Amino acid sequence: MGLQGEQTAAWFRRAKAALVNGVSSQFRYWGDDDTMVIDHGEGGYVIDMDGNRYIDYQLGFGPVILGHGDPDVAAAVSEAALAGTTFAMTQRREVEAAEQFLAAVPWAEQLRFGNTGTEATMHAIRLARGVTGRDVILKFEGQYHGVHDYVMFSTAGAPPAALGSRSQPVPWQSSSGIPETIRSYIRVLPFNDMEGVERLFRDQGHQIAGVIVEPMLGNAFGIMPEDGFLQGLRRLCTDHGSVLIFDEVKTGFRMGLGGAGEYFGIDPDLGTFAKAMGNGFPVAAIAGRGDAIKGWAEGGIAQAGTYSANGVAVAAAGATIAKLATGEPYARIETVGRMLMEGFAAICAQQSVPAHVPGVPAMFGLVFSDEPPRDFRDAANHDEELYGDVIRRMIGKGVFPVDDALEPWFLCAAHSEEDAAKTLAVFEESLREARA
Ligand SMILES: Cc1ncc(COP(=O)(O)O)c(C=O)c1O
Repeated sequence: MGLQGEQTAAWFRRAKAALVNGVSSQFRYWGDDDTMVIDHGEGGYVIDMDGNRYIDYQLGFGPVILGHGDPDVAAAVSEAALAGTTFAMTQRREVEAAEQFLAAVPWAEQLRFGNTGTEATMHAIRLARGVTGRDVILKFEGQYHGVHDYVMFSTAGAPPAALGSRSQPVPWQSSSGIPETIRSYIRVLPFNDMEGVERLFRDQGHQIAGVIVEPMLGNAFGIMPEDGFLQGLRRLCTDHGSVLIFDEVKTGFRMGLGGAGEYFGIDPDLGTFAKAMGNGFPVAAIAGRGDAIKGWAEGGIAQAGTYSANGVAVAAAGATIAKLATGEPYARIETVGRMLMEGFAAICAQQSVPAHVPGVPAMFGLVFSDEPPRDFRDAANHDEELYGDVIRRMIGKGVFPVDDALEPWFLCAAHSEEDAAKTLAVFEESLREARA
C-alpha cells in the first residue's frame, strides 16, 4: 500500500497528467503511489489533500527554519508584493537585507543576491576561476551543490562502487547531458580525507581555482567534519592561491546565525547561501571577502539576474534574518532537536540496533550502521532497507521525514517538545514493528 490517501491519489493523477512525473523537481518523486500532494503547511506541520496532518521534518529540504507560513515573513512579503517587486534598479529592501546579512555573517564583507542555491554555486565557481585564472575545482563525494553541469559529479546518488578507489577517486557523472570535457575540470575526494587533499594540492595545486565544500555533509547523513579538516582546506587554499568556497546553502542560517563559517570558526573566501535565509522563499546570496568577492567589482566576470534581489525575495530574507537574529528560534530548535537526537540514540540502544546520530540539532542524520559514517563511502554500510521501512511506517503515523537516510532531518522553530515526544513514540513503535 502506498502513502497516498484517496484525495491525494486523485490529485497526484492530475499532477502527473500536467507535470512530468507529477513534480517540478526530481527529488520529490517517490513513485506513483507514494508521491504526496500537499494542500498547505502550518508551522511545523504539512497537511495533505486528504486532510492528514504530519509533523514535517523535510521542511522543503531545509529552507523552512521558522515554520511554514511564518506570520512575520508573510507580512513582509505581502507588503513587498504590493509595492512592486522588480525594477531593474537597486531597491531599498535589498540594501536593508544585505546589511542584515553582513551583520549576521561576520566574515563576509559584501554580497550579491540571487534566487537559488544552484545559481549561487555557479557564480561562486565562476568567480573562483575568474580571479585565479585557473579551471580546476575540487569537490567532495556525496556533496550536492545544485544541478548545473560543473558540480553534478559524485553526488549522493552515486553507487559507492562507481567512485573508484579512495586514493584515486573517479568523478562519477550524476546526469546525462553534461559534456564529457566538463569532467576534466573537476577533482573529487572523500569528505574528511585530509591526506588526499594534501596530495592533490602537492601535485596539482597550481591548477586548482577553488575548493567547494559543504562544511558539514548536509547531503549525506549530516556527517560532521573531523578536527582539522576545514582548517586544512583553509590553509592549503591560502598557500596555493586557491579560493575556498563554503557551500552554506543548507548550513547557512541553520547551524546558527553566522552559519558554518562562524560555527567552525573558519573564514572562507566565498560562501553560498539560500534555503534558511528566506524561510522558503526563493532567495540566495553569494557572499565573500577580499580579492575573491572584489572580482565582480573589477569587471570582466559576469553576474546578472532579472529576478536577483526582487522585492519579495529580499523582504523574506530581511524578515527571516531579523527574527533569527533574536536568537529565540535557535534556542527552541536546540531544545527540540537535542531531545530528538538523544531520544533516537537511546531507543536504538534499547532495541539493540546499532545506530548513529551525526549532525547538529537543526539538521542531523539517523544512520543504522555499526560504525559512525565518516564520508559518503560509508553509505554502503548502512541498513538502507530498515531505515526506509521504519520511515514509511512513521509517515503512516503522522511523522514525515525523507525516507532516505542520506537526507538529514530538519528542525524548525515551530516544532514543539510535544512534537518531539510524539515523534520518539512513533519511532520506537515503528522500529519495533519493522524489526519484528
Ligand atoms: C549544499 C547545497 N548546495 C546547493 C544546493 C542547490 O540549491 P537549489 O536547490 O536552491 O538550487 C542544494 C540543494 O539542496 C544544497 O543542499
